[in-house]
Amino acid sequence: MPTIIDGKKTSADIKNEIAARVKEIKAEGGKIPHLAAVLVGNDGASQTYVGAKVKACEFVGFESTLVRLEDNVSEEELLKTVEDINENPDIDGLIVQLPLPKHISVEKVTAKIKPEKDVDGFTPANVGRMALNWPTYVAATPYGIVELLKRYEIETSGKHCVVIGRSHIVGSPMSILMARNDYPGNSTVTLTHSRTKNLKEIAKTADILIVAIGKPEFVTADMVKEGAVVVDVGIHRIEDASKKNGFRLIGDVKFDEVSEKSSAITPVPGGVGPMTIASLLYNTLLSAENKVY
Ligand code: GUN
Repeated sequence: MPTIIDGKKTSADIKNEIAARVKEIKAEGGKIPHLAAVLVGNDGASQTYVGAKVKACEFVGFESTLVRLEDNVSEEELLKTVEDINENPDIDGLIVQLPLPKHISVEKVTAKIKPEKDVDGFTPANVGRMALNWPTYVAATPYGIVELLKRYEIETSGKHCVVIGRSHIVGSPMSILMARNDYPGNSTVTLTHSRTKNLKEIAKTADILIVAIGKPEFVTADMVKEGAVVVDVGIHRIEDASKKNGFRLIGDVKFDEVSEKSSAITPVPGGVGPMTIASLLYNTLLSAENKVY
């Protein structure tokens, strides 16, 4: 039977560790971490994510500020909002929830965020620092995966790690983190994507397979080596009349058949997903304690 890598439990452990640190900070009379989230418009998923982030702040004892802007806010006004938060000395971390409306440039807004407060790790400065293995804020999903590999003591040195998907927020940073001279890293990395030839054959040579391609149940058992460690970043809602709420969640990996071949695997839900908020809180704590800059 494979080890089921429990992201829900690990995330709860991390949140409890952070909450304990906040208690100490309060006792020492130090700076209470403060996260500001900017949400533009009424996208349902974004509202849910931001709501969960604010709730998580309350749980660990952080302060939080939610700035809501209308769907039709001008780019200029959003940039001004970011600037105001950049200059507010009480706020340690700033995130602008994505996606943004089409009339706003994500690049311009991201570039405006002060790297010292960029707890999403999305700014060019922090992506560069991550690539250089300098102190930085690693983006939530890659950081969550790194933390799961560490806490489950997955051996990565000298292993062949195949990453499927080259997005800026998951696949590309994961390939860098797994290759760098640090634990969990020191892997030989192959970064594959939609144009990769023989993807199935390459995946089958992976000791560690990280799947972030955004296609439901893309990875099947015939693509996985016996004993591989499988990390599933995908999350998809599939209609299912037999469920109370009418749907179920599945990942980029066909869990039932792949888990039988793997030595360890992250489930969906309850694997990588819950780790992302823990990562964001961790980065905000780092910022409040001036541990990065
Ligand atoms: N939208 C989806 N994931 C994220 C995230 O990690 N950060 C932000 N800011 N927006 C997102």
